[in-house]
Amino acid sequence: MTKELSSKALARKPQRPPPSLKFQKFLLYLLVTCVTIFVLFQIQSLRTPSTTPAALPPTWTSFQYWQNLISKTEITLKSCTKKLDSTASKLKESVTFLPLKDLRYAHAAQEGHTWFMSSMYDTQEKGEAQYQQFPSNSSKGRLLCIKGHDNHDGAWNSYALAWPEALPRNATLMKGLTFISNNHYNYANLWHGLSALVPFVSWHIKNECATPSRWILYHKGELRYKMAGWLRNLMEATYSETVNIQTFEGFGDDEPLCFEKAVVMRHSEGGMSGENLMQVYDLVRCKARILCNVSLEDSSEGKIGMTLLMRTGGRSFQNESEVVRIFDGECRKVEGCRIMVAHSDNLTFCEQVQLMSSTDILITPHGAQLTNLFLMDKNSSVMEFYPKGWLKLAGIGQFVYKWMTRWSGMKHQGAWHDPDGDQCPYSEDDRRCMSIYKDGKIGYNETHFAEWGRNVLNEVKRKKTEEASQGRLTNSHQCICA
Ligand SMILES: *[C@@H]1O[C@H](CO)[C@@H](O)[C@H](O)[C@H]1NC(C)=O
Ligand SMILES: *[C@@H]1O[C@H](CO)[C@@H](O)[C@H](O)[C@H]1NC(C)=O
Ligand SMILES: *[C@@H]1O[C@H](CO)[C@@H](O)[C@H](O)[C@H]1NC(C)=O
Ligand SMILES: *[C@@H]1O[C@H](CO)[C@@H](O)[C@H](O)[C@H]1NC(C)=O
Ligand SMILES: *[C@@H]1O[C@H](CO)[C@@H](O)[C@H](O)[C@H]1NC(C)=O
Ligand SMILES: *[C@@H]1O[C@H](CO)[C@@H](O)[C@H](O)[C@H]1NC(C)=O
Ligand SMILES: *[C@@H]1O[C@H](CO)[C@@H](O)[C@H](O)[C@H]1NC(C)=O
Repeated sequence: MTKELSSKALARKPQRPPPSLKFQKFLLYLLVTCVTIFVLFQIQSLRTPSTTPAALPPTWTSFQYWQNLISKTEITLKSCTKKLDSTASKLKESVTFLPLKDLRYAHAAQEGHTWFMSSMYDTQEKGEAQYQQFPSNSSKGRLLCIKGHDNHDGAWNSYALAWPEALPRNATLMKGLTFISNNHYNYANLWHGLSALVPFVSWHIKNECATPSRWILYHKGELRYKMAGWLRNLMEATYSETVNIQTFEGFGDDEPLCFEKAVVMRHSEGGMSGENLMQVYDLVRCKARILCNVSLEDSSEGKIGMTLLMRTGGRSFQNESEVVRIFDGECRKVEGCRIMVAHSDNLTFCEQVQLMSSTDILITPHGAQLTNLFLMDKNSSVMEFYPKGWLKLAGIGQFVYKWMTRWSGMKHQGAWHDPDGDQCPYSEDDRRCMSIYKDGKIGYNETHFAEWGRNVLNEVKRKKTEEASQGRLTNSHQCICA
């Protein structure tokens, strides 16, 4: 499900050398030739006066000599300029577009997204996101150009590199910074969408908080025009700028867009160190709180917020009121504890940010709403719930929120797997059972929930008391990119 996130996804090596490199050499060669011819002419001309018949008056000779020299130079320069023009024109024609989705790697798409712009290397420094930047030293100063806006088959969209002086015919130069993202999954899903956008935030932090003028979103090389509203809000908070998604509207299939400056990401978090991820989540949390008017001052002293974030439909609790009753019972026994119950799908973005800011213990089923977890104060706790069947069949996708808990500096307090649920007619570990289990409902075990809740509450209480006595603050008061 989320194989591409396993952090060692590396780019395959390019299959061919960039074709237009030859032309750069050719151009240089031509210039050198022109200059050489010019110099030779001058040397030749300097020798000419000594062979001129002495009968003519010296001024006349000298005039003729200069006129001669000037006209010869003019001819040489004209022919050089003509050659340069013709070379520039050839350079324009030589820009070669390759398909964004390289079908040769279609079978290996999940092993590093090498099929997206497969001829390009990524830049990777240790612990940093893998990215490409244009123009750059490795692109030899060339810009990235993109053509086509197919949203069904990435092989119909194409890319090329071109020098700014020789952009392909019909090209439009897009000013400013462009973020180009390719994702094997889906920008409507909070987890997958955020995974794709995290490396851009990291790049933003490393590059003087530079903000994009536009975004181009691809899913397997196919153009996408939307991201989930929650994600869009989060990005607008992070960059303090409206998210402008390029639709290519008004551009024909043979009219390329070339980008003054472009950053391409195709490996999600792959390669990023824990420290780097933490920095990204710190910034996004900080900026989201500012947008939503949440005070950055820690005002939760002595209070413990316990939040039940409910789902509707698949993977919801069968009996919400019983689950609330059990945890409320434990919360009441602890001084300062306050229980909050909310349905993620009827909270606005800022309501979610505000709720998470006052949550110390998040109790919720496995699902997209859990992506909110990094918005809590650092060191807060997550308790996760799964319906029957997930432990065996769901693959590594079931651990994504556990990873995110670690990446964002929270604490995963374990998970509960419902032992009961719908029966599957096949054997228990048959993959076909997953479609039955995937969206099953979650029951409860009063003894277990009460004991688990009590333990987590006590731990949080102990830590809060400790922190208060040491005067330790959990939040920084200013964002990295203020
Ligand atoms: C690019 O190349 C120039 C000149 O060779 C060098 O000064 C510069 O540091 C290089 N930039 C990067 C990012 O490597
Ligand atoms: C440039 O655009 C025009 C009009 O859209 C089209 O007829 C022409 O073929 C294009 N030229 C190239 C080189 O794509
Ligand atoms: C935050 O405060 C500003 C200014 O007081 C206000 O305009 C804005 O609507 C507030 N936003 C939220 C989400 O409360
Ligand atoms: C939840 O459980 C309680 C206690 O067993 C029961 O009274 C109630 O009807 C149940 N509610 C639902 C929606 O099943
Ligand atoms: C929130 O959603 C739940 C389930 O979708 C619904 O029962 C409840 O009335 C909603 N609450 C509000 C305040 O809209
Ligand atoms: C409920 O949880 C307790 C404590 O973990 C366990 O001993 C008991 O077997 C569980 N009950 C059921 C019905 O699974
Ligand atoms: C989180 O808790 C650990 C120990 O429980 C502590 O060492 C660490 O400083 C805390 N982190 C923050 C950001 O409060």
